[in-house]
Amino acid sequence: MYNEQVMKEFQNLQNVGYIEDHNAYSKIGNAACGDIMEMTMYINPETDIIERVAFRTFGCAAAQATSSRATTLVKGKTVQEALELSNKAVVESLGGLPAQKMHCSVLAEEAIKACVEDYLSKKNK
Ligand code: FES
Repeated sequence: MYNEQVMKEFQNLQNVGYIEDHNAYSKIGNAACGDIMEMTMYINPETDIIERVAFRTFGCAAAQATSSRATTLVKGKTVQEALELSNKAVVESLGGLPAQKMHCSVLAEEAIKACVEDYLSKKNK
């Protein structure tokens, strides 16, 4: 059901955990299945570059693999670049997902966006 790249990513998840000294936080629920994702980031306030990012999810294998890949794609990028990352781009970078699992990849995209927005709203205060 999952292709080899997705299986590989799932068996070697990146950036799992929780950043204690984070300055960006989000917790997102997947409307389609009720699964949950929590994300923390440390973003350099001088450069707006995402230096560290970590996720924890009660989602399925597809959610975990896409979250892992999404975090590696935004790490080292600016918040602006992170906001432009779509779930489709993440899925493409993993060689695709079964159609019925596409909704799982939305968790990572939404968590990243909410996390960056949390950072920007605190920064603009
Ligand atoms: Fe819920 Fe995949 S079934 S995230």
